[in-house]
Amino acid sequence: MSEVFVKINNKQLGPLNRREIKNLVVNGEFSQDDLVYHEDMQEWVAANQIDELRTIFSDDQKQQRRKTVYAIGGGKGGVGKTVLCASLGIGLATYDHQVVVVDADLGGANLHTCMGILEPEYTFYHFYTLQRERLEDICLETPVDNLKLISGACGTLGFANPRYSQKVRFIHQLRQLDADYVLLDLGAGSSYNVIDFFLAADEGILVTTPDPMAIQETFNFLKIAIMRRFVREFRKKPAVLSVIDQYMYSEPGKMQFTMDDIIKDVKEIDDEASSYIEHYLANYHPHLILNMVHSSKEIREGDSFRMAAHDILNVDVDYMGFVEFDESVRKSVKELKPFVLSNPRSKASKNLAKLIAIGMLKKSGWTSIKEKRQVLQNFRAESADYPDTNMQESDTICSVNCFYWGDCEYQEGGYPCPIRNLDPIFKRHG
Ligand SMILES: Nc1ncnc2c1ncn2[C@@H]1O[C@H](COP(=O)(O)OP(=O)(O)OP(=O)(O)O)[C@@H](O)[C@H]1O
Ligand SMILES: [Mg+2]
Repeated sequence: MSEVFVKINNKQLGPLNRREIKNLVVNGEFSQDDLVYHEDMQEWVAANQIDELRTIFSDDQKQQRRKTVYAIGGGKGGVGKTVLCASLGIGLATYDHQVVVVDADLGGANLHTCMGILEPEYTFYHFYTLQRERLEDICLETPVDNLKLISGACGTLGFANPRYSQKVRFIHQLRQLDADYVLLDLGAGSSYNVIDFFLAADEGILVTTPDPMAIQETFNFLKIAIMRRFVREFRKKPAVLSVIDQYMYSEPGKMQFTMDDIIKDVKEIDDEASSYIEHYLANYHPHLILNMVHSSKEIREGDSFRMAAHDILNVDVDYMGFVEFDESVRKSVKELKPFVLSNPRSKASKNLAKLIAIGMLKKSGWTSIKEKRQVLQNFRAESADYPDTNMQESDTICSVNCFYWGDCEYQEGGYPCPIRNLDPIFKRHG
């Protein structure tokens, strides 16, 4: 094939040979819908219309193993997205699935800490700065067989808002990872970065606690995600877009519309677009996990959420299950161990085993009980081998040599310092 010109994000590049184009495809920077200048036809055509290029895309697809990408999000901070991501990953990995857990919390990466991996050799930083070209090059082994980790770039400025092309490269390569399940741990909030990752996944899991503020925030997150989907879908239909925009940018606190309102308004100007919206909503089934549940009354908040999503958003949410509030989860975070391994007999571990068996692996009836028991057994077997990161006792002994000696109200010479027990996560060496 002779060299060709291509257009990416309206920017012309080239002339490029086949190998250079293949590199762009592998990096997720060029897709089959992007434009290529066709010399014979003397016009710009979609890349998949050119025979020599079509094979690049089919090679690329062949490399992709069948996998499910789950995004774990929900808007509210501190509801347990990260701890659930780690423990869900372990549950699926001990079930003999190949799993990669990915820290996609660009502003506050901490999945690695939650797993006791304090100094990840590679992080998103190496991928972002092109020191490592492929996402699989920054995949880290974890102490659990079949489970790998892609660590976020913690403590580094400038990653909270990657450029669009970097996001596309990241999302494209997620699909190339050699795994059965990829679990993305998203950050809090409903910024476009978070929402775009949520929508890019095959399956979205909303995590919330049962308190009204968290439920409300999660509901708004879902609403914004759906609206963002429509904005992207109708970017070439300005009239439809302006209807969506009117609803989306209504006065703060007045996002009281229903999807039926939107469908009705869109139908008046574009029948095809309103059918698309109806079809999309009928086929969109985000999942829901309720975390830190205190009572059976609170468990039912999941059903209330489902009903509201059905009535207002025309979406059937799959309520996957719940995890009770359990002090052992907090303790496990301090031990830097995923909770299902720190205490596999805890209430929370049992809840999670049920959630994996029924909610994720879709077992039912007697099989679900058997599978739940199997998941718990796997947790117990795995917990024996998971390394300890000793955070409980500080190595630093209180003494006159300390800079704060004389001023510190916790001073107790000769005993371990109670304040510097977190040193391992601050990476204060020497
Ligand atoms: N089931 C539970 N019972 C008790 N405590 C819990 C439970 N689940 C999570 N927690 C606690 O909640 C805290 C926040 O959890 P986590 O960091 O996973 O939340 P997050 O949603 O990822 O937060 P962020 O949005 O800031 O990333 C942790 O300290 C954890 O111990
Ligand atoms: Mg988190």
